Amino acid sequence: MLTGGDTPRRAYELAAEEEGDWSRVELWWGDERCVPPEDERSNYRLAKEALLDRLERQPRAVHRIPGEADAAKAASSYEDELRGVTFDLVLNGLGPDGHTASLFPQAPTLAIRDRLVVPAEPKLDPYVERITLTLPALANCREMLFLAVGEQKAEAARRAFADPPSVATPASLVRSAAGETIAVLDPAAAAALTP
Ligand code: 6PG
Repeated sequence: MLTGGDTPRRAYELAAEEEGDWSRVELWWGDERCVPPEDERSNYRLAKEALLDRLERQPRAVHRIPGEADAAKAASSYEDELRGVTFDLVLNGLGPDGHTASLFPQAPTLAIRDRLVVPAEPKLDPYVERITLTLPALANCREMLFLAVGEQKAEAARRAFADPPSVATPASLVRSAAGETIAVLDPAAAAALTP
């Protein structure tokens, strides 16, 4: 399961360089902005440019969130597609406010347990409506990886990975239910975690 934002771009490029054959992989997304797939704000477009277009063999399935469709309908059709799937690996970013996917601090979406995919309010740039996986959907994975770089993520990283879980920091609530959750941080993002 892929994420959006700027941070994963280089990771996707490197992943494509390291391994060009993704034919045994199925790709999913944790969230999407409600824009068409060719829009520069699209999380799908980021992965297409940085990863898919660089591969020798394409994934056996690419489950894109249809950001161009009505958000409620897109969320419900993605939920139908996703039902019964356990992710092998979930990749998450971390916002400076502690959000992950499109689960924002104090948002009502954090309380949703009976849905896998829901529409989400535009809480930050780009200010477009979003579609996001819920906490239980993200947790249903064998391994989870957070990727964060830069000093603007340091406080959020401390709140997400060292402080007690809280709806003020959605990333602190997102963990693999069955396996490990690993945070990969550069020294600047890890600065507030060091004793
Ligand atoms: C999105 C993301 C979002 C992102 C964080 C971090 O659609 O924007 O999925 O949760 O991972 O905002 O983004 P940066 O890597 O750009 O800081």
